[in-house]
Amino acid sequence: MQKKKQIAVLGYGVVGSGVVELFYQNQEKIEKNTGYSMDIKYILDLRTFEGDPYADKVVHDINVILQDPEVGYVAECMGGVNPAFEFVSSCLKAGKSVSTSNKQLVAEKGDILLQTAKENNFFFEASVGGAIPIMRPLHTCLAANDLYAVAGILNGTTNFILEKMFCDQMSFADALALAQQLGYAERNPSADVDGADACRKICIISSLVFGKHVYPDSVFTKGIRDIQLEDVKLAQQLGGTVKLIAQVVREDDGKILPTVMPMVVMQDSLLSHVNGVFNAIMVWGDGIDKTMFYGRGAGKMPTASAVLGDIIDEVKSNGTVPAQTWETSSDTDFIANIDTFVAPRMFRTSTCAADVAKQAAGQVGVTVRMHTENGFLVSACTERIAAKLTDALQGMGVTVYSQIPVLKDHSKFSE
Ligand code: HSE
Repeated sequence: MQKKKQIAVLGYGVVGSGVVELFYQNQEKIEKNTGYSMDIKYILDLRTFEGDPYADKVVHDINVILQDPEVGYVAECMGGVNPAFEFVSSCLKAGKSVSTSNKQLVAEKGDILLQTAKENNFFFEASVGGAIPIMRPLHTCLAANDLYAVAGILNGTTNFILEKMFCDQMSFADALALAQQLGYAERNPSADVDGADACRKICIISSLVFGKHVYPDSVFTKGIRDIQLEDVKLAQQLGGTVKLIAQVVREDDGKILPTVMPMVVMQDSLLSHVNGVFNAIMVWGDGIDKTMFYGRGAGKMPTASAVLGDIIDEVKSNGTVPAQTWETSSDTDFIANIDTFVAPRMFRTSTCAADVAKQAAGQVGVTVRMHTENGFLVSACTERIAAKLTDALQGMGVTVYSQIPVLKDHSKFSE
């Protein structure tokens, strides 16, 4: 008789309980799809879950899982680096395939775990974009391309806050309070609003697309805390919106520039229409031009869907298809300096006549593309030129309250 494929789930919180729930909801379908009988044998958690239908599967010691040769597949849904790193390493060394939803673990330790996983497999579809299939498409469906840029909305909480500012004219503080009330933002919302969560996700994407591990420390990261309602209103007047954009672009010299920052996204970009807690990822390549992936970027069942998708794939391929992988990086020479970042920019100012804006822009070698009485868009320039423009305006008695880069379309197709 064919051996049953046994799974262990590490962590019985939001995502872990989603994995168990979705598995039993669709067990018959999943088994039909894989051609194997499958089950969840253990759930590892420090807590006990009296009255839970799966309480009998709960164990408190990772060694029970490590020492059980029947368990071939592990879903890591604990979050954080400790003890997840130690547990995942041990599972891989014990010959088990691991799927994780833990972006911090992959962003900080992915290269080491991929090395450890050589003989079996380490998957992390759920670590970026929740339910959205993005890791596997980047690695397989789009593998014929030279992919040179990726830009996305990778944090649902900040996207919800910015949408509330845009649509309901709420202040940042009120929109954040609402996000907390609805359970999207944590009581300490820093990882979301200051960009660390999006940073981890763009690290994972950059590593996979460009083949070398990009650590969070190497990514220029700026969150949305300083965005004022007036910035969002001005972007709206100029035909755009403000989004927290996580982006990586390969520059002409071959270096890559990963960034996380609030950007103005003009209405002609599909990304400007991604609202609420949804995520979207735009990928540019020489064959595809551009392709966008869209869906629920977080939450119990969407994330569980991606974790189980990895396990199903691994069961079907029987370990014959190696996981997506990249090299470890001992230096950061392949990462460009933020000073090389070039983008059109939106300036929000005190009242500024069009001819004053044009004159100041002309002095620093940029042109004004669109203008309102309290701000304007200028052509692409570096941060250094933007600072010079700020000085020039101030010399003319105009105060600059903010300047926000505008997202470019990286398309190289003429039509
Ligand atoms: N807090 C994240 C978000 C979800 O708001 O998108 C998990 O990465």
